[in-house]
Amino acid sequence: MNDKKLTIAIDGFSSCGKSTVAKELARKLGYVYVDTGAMYRAVTLYCMRNGLIADDGTVDEAALRRDIEKIGISFIYDPQTSKNTTLLNGEVVEDEIRRIEVSNKVSYVSRIDFVRAQMVKLQQDMGRQGGIVMDGRDIGTVVFPNADLKIFMTASPEVRAQRRFDELTAKGEKVTFDEILENVTQRDYIDQHREVSPLRQADDARVVDNSQMTRDEQFELILKMVDEAKEANA
Ligand code: DC
Repeated sequence: MNDKKLTIAIDGFSSCGKSTVAKELARKLGYVYVDTGAMYRAVTLYCMRNGLIADDGTVDEAALRRDIEKIGISFIYDPQTSKNTTLLNGEVVEDEIRRIEVSNKVSYVSRIDFVRAQMVKLQQDMGRQGGIVMDGRDIGTVVFPNADLKIFMTASPEVRAQRRFDELTAKGEKVTFDEILENVTQRDYIDQHREVSPLRQADDARVVDNSQMTRDEQFELILKMVDEAKEANA
């Protein structure tokens, strides 16, 4: 058996189940999992808490630039349960960064060039040893252009909005489906059209459209892709 520890990049639109798959995959392979969306969310929360972002999304870039290197982002990952907890300067912020207020602002922060440069640097440091599954928007294109396996996940906006709606209402958040659908489509637009590292499929990425797939079917398919990537690396 070939045991080379792969670098696996999973990119795609928001709310299409990237992190669920990435976590499951990391657990199955015994790899490290990194949720890069959580990193941009944590920076956004930092901005919100420190008055660096206005209601209309305008960011005080000069102040954020001064602070960016001292914004500590770390994770506690439990491989047994595949639960991943995000910390901002040592404080657990896992639930807070998933709230709709943060979701509505995160694209304004993640499009800033020096924010991206800092996050990419942290991500590349985390992945230097291989044996990692990282999910995001620019992992296969910018962070690890030489990843052993690149997966681009997608699903229709309605399917994605429904999943996010179910998730948030299950947590007791008062949201409407239309509000979520609008957030999903707006984020798609900003993510694809921003100047720095827009969301795009890497030329050598394998596309997984899960609109009509069960989670199990999807996971089977991805495990097959992992085996193929291992073969190719043998
Ligand atoms: O995956 P997510 O929905 O938690 O990501 C939150 C936001 O962060 C999303 O609007 C896009 C942005 N993001 C990014 O620009 N680059 C990444 N590598 C990951 C996320």
